[in-house]
Amino acid sequence: NLSGFPHYMLKEIYEQPESLENAMRGRLSDEDATAVFGGLNLSAQDLRRINRVILTACGTSWHAALVGEYLLEELARLPVEVEYASELRYRNPPVENGTLLFAITQSGETADTLAALREMKRKGHPTLAICNVVGSTIAQEANGGVYLHAGPEVGVASTKAYTSQVVTLTMLSLYFGRLRHLSFEAGTRIIGQLRALPQLIRETLHCHDEVKRIAEKYAHASNFLYLGRQYNFPTALEGALKLKEISYIHAEGYPAAEMKHGPIALVDEHTPSVFIMPQGPVYDKVMSNLEEIKARGGPVIAIAARGDSEVARLADDVIYVPEVTEMLSPLVNIVPLQLLAYHIALHRGCDVDKPRNLAKSVTVE
Ligand code: F6R
Repeated sequence: NLSGFPHYMLKEIYEQPESLENAMRGRLSDEDATAVFGGLNLSAQDLRRINRVILTACGTSWHAALVGEYLLEELARLPVEVEYASELRYRNPPVENGTLLFAITQSGETADTLAALREMKRKGHPTLAICNVVGSTIAQEANGGVYLHAGPEVGVASTKAYTSQVVTLTMLSLYFGRLRHLSFEAGTRIIGQLRALPQLIRETLHCHDEVKRIAEKYAHASNFLYLGRQYNFPTALEGALKLKEISYIHAEGYPAAEMKHGPIALVDEHTPSVFIMPQGPVYDKVMSNLEEIKARGGPVIAIAARGDSEVARLADDVIYVPEVTEMLSPLVNIVPLQLLAYHIALHRGCDVDKPRNLAKSVTVE
């Protein structure tokens, strides 16, 4: 059921205000200034003993895990490692007691993620799933977990499941933080910001016409760079993956400052760079990375906070999004990148919902 949308991908992009609301429903407690989860199956006492976290996943879910690393570090002060499930399953890393594994997966059926989970369980570590499909294999095999409640995701390219994973990781980080050092006041502030998020995503979707215009302008490029820093380094990776998957254009995501260590050699007048540059502590640094690209003749598309007039002087095209706290900016910034990939793919005549060579769930190794 497409509800009047031409493709599932577009429908699912537009469902994000609602899917985020569904992920948060009943999970925010003003009374305790924390998040609450029914299915972790670990006592608060057990959870306080956790002193290290491993996040494992594949593809887009792995990008959500990378955002989760910043969140858990900042809110819960927990050391985090993010592992590709396909790598973790064949490694034999020394894992200390007190380590918790989160397996992040939309489908709950990804073969590598399941194998990594089983391997960690076998060694006696507690495992939790962050999963969309209810009753899926990974949801059943983990000791407990959190469902995304994003509703069915039909488009092969993951969109709403990604933002639901990131918001769920934000709530989990709040919860772990509040079990430790995070103050009541800080918890209350974060809850307020989370509650405002669905409306901000609705406002972000107003960039659609502008993104469509920009997509048509750049649809003939053969290479793209996506650059961002800190919380939005994963946004750069995810934006690049969306473009690769559905438009078959080669795209690379990089931490913006790494570009000068190699990828800058790719820059010429035919290679657009997409800069993700929200207001925040690294804004000026990203701006100087942008200047380096412009100095080499590369076209620049910037995703920036509304009201940022500085960026318009340098970037060729700017997509404005609502200003949010840095921690939540990956959720807002990914929306124009999903739309950009969608429109470039359409322009090139690609099948956006069923890209070649890809399956919705990867149940083989
Ligand atoms: C990207 C995409 C894939 C999946 C990956 C993991 O748009 O859909 O990269 O994210 O195959 O799938 P799940 O989350 O089902 O484990």
